Amino acid sequence: MLIERCLEGMPGRLSIVICIIFVPKIEKKMLGTGKKIIIAIDGHSSCGKSTVAREIARQLNYIFIDTGAMYRAVTLYCLRNHIIVNGLVNTDALIANLDKIRVYFKNNPFTHHNDIWLNGENVEDEIRLLEVSQSVSPVAAVAQVRQLLVSLQQEMGKMKGIVMDGRDIGTIVFPEAELKIFMTALPDIRAQRRIDELTAKGEKVSYDEIRSNILERDRYDESREQSPLRKADDAIILDNSYMTREEQLEWVLKLVAKI
Ligand code: DC
Repeated sequence: MLIERCLEGMPGRLSIVICIIFVPKIEKKMLGTGKKIIIAIDGHSSCGKSTVAREIARQLNYIFIDTGAMYRAVTLYCLRNHIIVNGLVNTDALIANLDKIRVYFKNNPFTHHNDIWLNGENVEDEIRLLEVSQSVSPVAAVAQVRQLLVSLQQEMGKMKGIVMDGRDIGTIVFPEAELKIFMTALPDIRAQRRIDELTAKGEKVSYDEIRSNILERDRYDESREQSPLRKADDAIILDNSYMTREEQLEWVLKLVAKI
């Protein structure tokens, strides 16, 4: 069975179409009561939020949405269309171009992940390049971009059964989420993990460059005017500096089981 959660932009300012196409497993693993919840995972850059969120979603047969990928795809569009030049975002041009940007998630039949697509092209790999990481924060700080993406994210979560990771999920997108987790890890450990990830993809990067990009993005995300990164009051902190992936999953699943 093919299920679609296909969402169109807001009336009057239709700008970005987000479409998730996924094939659910036949046998559903539910929570004890069978109820579906929203799991919001926020936190610092490169601390493995998406890895944990994706696996939790897989185990619960929930949808996983990496909201950072949405901001990255918009950034990629800006880079390709000279809306970002020398690291500076032309905000007026970005806003004027929003109706030309189509960003959507589509199931990859080989990896079974929901890859991000930009105007008909799978950009899942390209959005992870350092060039995009270095420009995404100012794009994510533009109010019109945030308003639009947040509305679409809220639409995606209406049916619950979703694990969403980002920077403002527990505070702005789903302040009523049943489970909120705020993930962090020591900067050196985050930098090393990111290097391992990029090196595995064949990208040549320096430790200092990666570490400073991570810290710079944290600083930018925490100090921006629009929806700054902060822990929701009712979020539970997960510092995974010295935890394996399996330990993190077990930790989260225990919390889910208590709901
Ligand atoms: O999770 P990530 O590193 O792929 O996110 C890329 C950038 O997007 C990050 O530097 C901040 C921004 N972002 C955001 O502002 N709000 C979100 N919900 C998700 C990401």
